[in-house]
Amino acid sequence: MDSGVPSVSPQPVVAALTRSAIFLVATINPGSAAETAVRGLCADLSSLLRAVGFRDLQGNLSCVMAIGSQAWDRLFDGPRPKELHPFREIRGVHHAVSTPGDLLFHIRASKRMDLCFELARQIMIRLDGAVTVVDEVHGFNYFDDRDLIGFVDGTENPAGPDAVKAAIIGDEDAGFAGGSYVIVQKYLHNLAAWDKVPVEEQENIVGRHKLSDIEQPDAIKKPYAHNVLTSITEDGEPVDILRDNMPFGQVGAAEFGTYFIGYSRTPRRIERMLENMFVGSPPGTYDRLLDFSRAVTGSLFFVPTATFLDAVEAEKPVAEPGAAAAAAPEPAPPAPPSRPSGDGSLGIGSLKKEAGHE
Ligand code: HEM
Repeated sequence: MDSGVPSVSPQPVVAALTRSAIFLVATINPGSAAETAVRGLCADLSSLLRAVGFRDLQGNLSCVMAIGSQAWDRLFDGPRPKELHPFREIRGVHHAVSTPGDLLFHIRASKRMDLCFELARQIMIRLDGAVTVVDEVHGFNYFDDRDLIGFVDGTENPAGPDAVKAAIIGDEDAGFAGGSYVIVQKYLHNLAAWDKVPVEEQENIVGRHKLSDIEQPDAIKKPYAHNVLTSITEDGEPVDILRDNMPFGQVGAAEFGTYFIGYSRTPRRIERMLENMFVGSPPGTYDRLLDFSRAVTGSLFFVPTATFLDAVEAEKPVAEPGAAAAAAPEPAPPAPPSRPSGDGSLGIGSLKKEAGHE
């Protein structure tokens, strides 16, 4: 299909589940100098990533940079992603809090935390004085991809083309095709209480068997099972999101957590899952995991394409829609096989405000 516009290269949203990750959530400090620094990083992120990642190509270092709703308006003029909005808190049986976040960096590597750490450090050197890190989580792999409540996490994630279909925006928002939405929540578990729950009931809460990770048969699944409440349909068809949760913690502080990260081509899917979990479906039939796990953060971001980030200019304004794509020095590189080659347009320019504009 040739739409007559340059193809775009997504960020590595659709990546294999990894064994090390750093999640950095930051707010942008007041002032146009801070905005200029962030815009400068947008364009340089790919070269930072190349420099650090090249030190061990087997390490599969990747980074997704995502931008919150208010930050989008501070950084860019012009059109905005259709469904970008701040995370909406939910007050149901349990409380899904909404917490500040202008930027998210989701840094992953197959095994080597040092690669993640070094990239995070380089990013922060670039953003020194421009941002305040409001949450930093270093996730690790816990045995066979289990979370700290002892269940394998990630099994039903879509893979390959299904993952792209779940997570990557298509024609529904053509100007931002190739992008994605991401919601993060940091959960702290009361493991002492959880460990007192008989394994059979833990399995009813999750909807899977603990040791084997086999799904419970539908006939015996409880209506409050996590995998019942997070299974949703659109127009009668089941729809997915893409998760890459990671355990984290500090034994001395008795902090045991799961960092939830969900990518989706529309935030509505994750929001519906959250409604089901926190309010219940029907209301009252809520997710019993939440009796043991408290959400202490909650933020929503838009993930622009790598092509978009590469074209952002720190200083010089680009007012015309489509100018960013036109100004890009090279055509977008071909997308890796597991990602869409980009059938959408970037016709949105780099859409930045001039430094010192305000
Ligand atoms: C305390 C935080 C959470 C924990 C410990 C957790 C854990 C799990 C586990 C163990 C599974 C089963 C294995 C799998 O398919 O991955 C699962 C499935 C799933 N979770 Fe979570 N989860 C958490 C939060 C969330 C949130 C906030 C959402 C979405 C808003 C979510 C969405 C899903 C989905 C869509 C599935 C797959 C359901 C299916 O199709 O079978 N989870 N989760």
